[in-house]
Amino acid sequence: MRASGAAIRVIVVGLGVWSGLSLVGLPDLAEAGSPGSKPPNVIVELGKQLFERKWIANDPRCHNGDGLGPVFNEASCVACHNLGGVGGAGSNARNVVIVAPITTGRLGIEGTQAEQARRLAEIVKFETGFPVAGSVVLHKAGTRPAYDVWKTWLLAKEFPMFTLRKSERNTPSLFGTGLIDALPDSVLEEVERRQTAIDSEISGRVCRLKDGRIGRFGWKAQIPSLEEFVLTACSVELGLEVPGHHQSIDPSSSLKSKTQGQVAELDLTSGDCVALVSYIRSLPTPVQIEPVSRAVSEKWLEGGALFKSIGCATCHLPTLGNIDGIYSDLLLHDLGPANSDSGAYYSEPIEERSDLVVASAAPADSNLEKGASKPKPVIGAESVEWRTPPLWGLRDTAPYLHNGGAKTLEDAIAQHRGEGSGAAARFARLSGMEQGKIRGFLMSLAAPSPSGPRTDQ
Ligand code: HEC
Ligand code: HEC
Repeated sequence: MRASGAAIRVIVVGLGVWSGLSLVGLPDLAEAGSPGSKPPNVIVELGKQLFERKWIANDPRCHNGDGLGPVFNEASCVACHNLGGVGGAGSNARNVVIVAPITTGRLGIEGTQAEQARRLAEIVKFETGFPVAGSVVLHKAGTRPAYDVWKTWLLAKEFPMFTLRKSERNTPSLFGTGLIDALPDSVLEEVERRQTAIDSEISGRVCRLKDGRIGRFGWKAQIPSLEEFVLTACSVELGLEVPGHHQSIDPSSSLKSKTQGQVAELDLTSGDCVALVSYIRSLPTPVQIEPVSRAVSEKWLEGGALFKSIGCATCHLPTLGNIDGIYSDLLLHDLGPANSDSGAYYSEPIEERSDLVVASAAPADSNLEKGASKPKPVIGAESVEWRTPPLWGLRDTAPYLHNGGAKTLEDAIAQHRGEGSGAAARFARLSGMEQGKIRGFLMSLAAPSPSGPRTDQ
């Protein structure tokens, strides 16, 4: 088989082939065009320009690189991150589509789960040109017309050995992510210990990555640092080649073209990347808006107290480490099969290691998992597990949940199952007036420069 033995390079949302280098330590930081010696405000301003810039194919501003693409989801960061201001959340029209191969069982793939996953990835690569081990971004567009043809073919074709399970990811807001980045791992581990010790209905866990680090960004907590997420976003969302992280490849061209394997020139220098990360770090933290009256202020206080008393605050912790008002523990929680989704994020073929249990991308009903009573994975997030999203800025982040599936706050709460079902049931039993107080409180949490009228106080 053509693909067998070959290393399978996979482009995964939020996780790619990142070398683990620190940006600050990259050697070409001092190169021409780098902002290395410029004052911080100038660097942040350059980062803002890069965040808002609409890139084009063969962009002359991309040094020697090929600019936007070969595959991309939008032409700029701000195209998705814009609700409540530049850097905010995104509408469902901007959702990122990911696919995971699920075996149909007609193949009879033998062996352990890790071996099955590797075999399946090889078959997918062989049949589609699409490199898959876990969940892979299915890009919205490509710079070559052949990409559209391939994508139409892929989505229409029925494969005998696997189906491609499609999922979506809604764009989260970036306000306050600098604080999350600075939080020590020990804070998350301490919350994990506390929740496990209490042994109630809720036991969140940190997302451990293959290299032992702890993830904290992304809906699956799959990325450990802001810097890595930003670089991943450059390469995955925009198709920009950045230091240590390759731009996503065009799977349609990888089927036959010789361009695969060629090293692309950098689209952004490490200096550009430092600027972009500095800008995101400099974004302000969400705020609580001013109440219009004392009565409103009291309503919010009561709403906040109710939020705690029915158990929302066990996961949506008001304070985490030194971050006040985040309303998250940044831990993974099982929200039940109704919220399950292609789960695992890997950048390499999954290695068979007897000492590790690795999260599976397959949903609970897949044949890969049938009959197995699975221990919780040590690595990665299970398909039913999600990172508790911070609720700060909530007023400006609808639609809600990982796939943008909840238009309203009430929808989002009602969809809490698994570890969240107790709190959701207690919310449902509150009176309309009490629910209104919680709504009032949560909707007072807004983007830093909120836009639009404030009529529902
Ligand atoms: C096509 C829409 C889209 C574009 C364009 C986009 N993003 Fe995102 N962004 C997302 C989605 C969706 C997620 C959540 C992904 C996940 O969790 O799997 C995300 C998550 C992030 C996060 C992690 C936030 C958190 O709290 O977990 C950062 C940081 C980020 N994006 C930065 C950027 C930067 C920088 C750019 C431009 C280089 C960019 N994004 C371009 C859609 C987009
Ligand atoms: C067991 C932990 C847990 C509890 C308890 C919990 N949540 Fe959540 N909450 C989550 C997780 C995890 C998600 C993300 C689920 C997803 O994206 O599918 C979430 C998502 C949300 C969202 C959507 C946020 C966004 O940005 O999309 C809102 C709003 C919310 N919760 C409010 C509440 C309220 C109100 C309560 C109490 C009734 C509550 N939650 C109880 C874990 C919890």
